Amino acid sequence: MDNRPIGFLDSGVGGLTVVRELMRQLPHEEVIYIGDSARAPYGPRPAEQIRAYTWQLVNFLLTKDVKMIVFACNTATAVVWEEIKEQLAIPVLGVILPGASAAIKSTASGRIGVIGTPMTVKSDIYRQKIQALSPDMQVESLACPKFVPLVESNELTSSVTKKVVYESLQPLAGRVDTLVLGCTHYPLLRPIIQNVMGPQVKLIDSGAECVRDISVLLNYFEINRSRDKQELNHRFYTTASAKSFAEIAESWLGKEITVEHVRL
Ligand code: DGL
Repeated sequence: MDNRPIGFLDSGVGGLTVVRELMRQLPHEEVIYIGDSARAPYGPRPAEQIRAYTWQLVNFLLTKDVKMIVFACNTATAVVWEEIKEQLAIPVLGVILPGASAAIKSTASGRIGVIGTPMTVKSDIYRQKIQALSPDMQVESLACPKFVPLVESNELTSSVTKKVVYESLQPLAGRVDTLVLGCTHYPLLRPIIQNVMGPQVKLIDSGAECVRDISVLLNYFEINRSRDKQELNHRFYTTASAKSFAEIAESWLGKEITVEHVRL
């Protein structure tokens, strides 16, 4: 048993898609979340800057005495997860491997699409991880740099968003039977993405997939939170406006939460 919280980091509100799934699958675990909305999006930034920012988020979570850290951000996972996980004494999880395995399981045609930020796509990490597991898979990756700013500004259903999603996804239309949402912000646009790709295309939410791995690790290390400790004190931190973060978070999570502004 370990009653300490699990730490989540993201460049902004995207990691909430992982938290929502955690709250559904593992409702007795406590959450500490840090979103760096003041500096989002991370995707178009140079690797060295993403690395430095991610270390700051990790160090912030370590001051909160977390028992595990989840990189609820594909971009940070692509750039610096390997390095950070080797240096910490607690388990550190990324979202890419779980997404890659789920895509392989889902595809019938062997043609998988991956959408992500410019850095995630440039790193080519999904193709590498998918083909390392299953060499015959064909992977087509596409950067969608316009999606994150729309999600950060809570434009989840506007006609501008619909148009941007439609235009951005055209290069993949009709070419894949499975599409990995390789950025944790994208599940917030899921209905529009599904509509554009068509009902026959299976969408893989890499963040949600990673919650299964969280559960496996909690069991393996025997660090589940005790179930009789009912009082959960989830805490959310943002580097930008607490009010804007809370607006998106409360409607996405379906509950009231406490959000605090922090300076890193
Ligand atoms: N949510 C993030 C990801 O999964 C990062 C988006 C960004 O800041 O560019 O990649």
